[in-house]
Amino acid sequence: MTISKNSVTVLANHLKKNPDSKVIFLVGAGASTSCGIPDFRSPKTGLYHNLSKLNLPYAEAVFDVDYFKENPKPFYTLAKELYPGNFKPSEFHYLMKLFEDKGRLKRIYTQNIDTLEREAGISSELVIEAHGSFASNHCIECAKEFPLSVFKDKLDSANAKGEFSYAKCSECKGLIKPKIVFFGENLPEAFFNTWDDDVEWLSKRHNATEDLIIVAGTSLTVHPFASLPSEVPDTSRRGLFNLGLVGDFEDNPRDDDIFIEGLLDEIAHKLATELGWLEELELLIKA
Ligand code: OAD
Ligand code: ZN
Repeated sequence: MTISKNSVTVLANHLKKNPDSKVIFLVGAGASTSCGIPDFRSPKTGLYHNLSKLNLPYAEAVFDVDYFKENPKPFYTLAKELYPGNFKPSEFHYLMKLFEDKGRLKRIYTQNIDTLEREAGISSELVIEAHGSFASNHCIECAKEFPLSVFKDKLDSANAKGEFSYAKCSECKGLIKPKIVFFGENLPEAFFNTWDDDVEWLSKRHNATEDLIIVAGTSLTVHPFASLPSEVPDTSRRGLFNLGLVGDFEDNPRDDDIFIEGLLDEIAHKLATELGWLEELELLIKA
């Protein structure tokens, strides 16, 4: 594994030497911390360390479907804080958009529910929202679908009255829940199907192009997402952009892995500089 101050250069050189190669990003909450959205597991700042005010039996209960049915208040409280529209994409999100513009983006698999990849303008067919998003909402009793704006209005109107009430279905009074994947729920089928296709695609491109799989801003603790890096064919090369070594990069490092330790926006800036893309990146951010 390459771990050095020059890791960004190693990665940039790889991209320059292999101009037909493409990148698959596997991203987590670290991509959005600079946008003002806390991640989950960072000590002190992570959401799971700051949920005490919600009186949860354990932090991850906020995303537990059985717990939600009993007590939806913690999730609704959090939903208001995390609601899309309140945040702007980061430099790192725009760098991924620039990979698309350069024809170098194969796919983004994101665990994030903040839709900031879409906000950065990345085409929806290139983004797999592995843990769902706030974009669609449904009643957990009768399955009636509600547009994003209706769910948001219901949460907000409860707030305006000065009391907390729940987002309830107009038909049956069941609870409305965004299609965010809770613990105990399945990931979207598109996640599994697209990953299978992409792995097959990678295997077929074998040796010719040296495609890159870049894992960024995730602790790689939640499965099945966390096992994706171990499934990358060894004809492709893996990179990790993160504050620390995680998951398969720590447990089963490969000789040609590239670890770039640091803050994602700083890494994005340096990488764009080395690739000669900085001006374009800055234009995207300003646009
Ligand atoms: P975590 O909070 O578990 O991990 C975030 C990782 O990003 C950690 O390794 C941090 O060190 C790193 N990090 C934070 N800020 C960073 C920055 N600016 N630059 C670089 N690295 C940074 O978040 P995830 O791995 O995404 O599920 O969590 C996975 C899932 O657990 C989430 O999708 C969520 C949660 O339960 C749902 O929402 C359904
Ligand atoms: Zn209903």
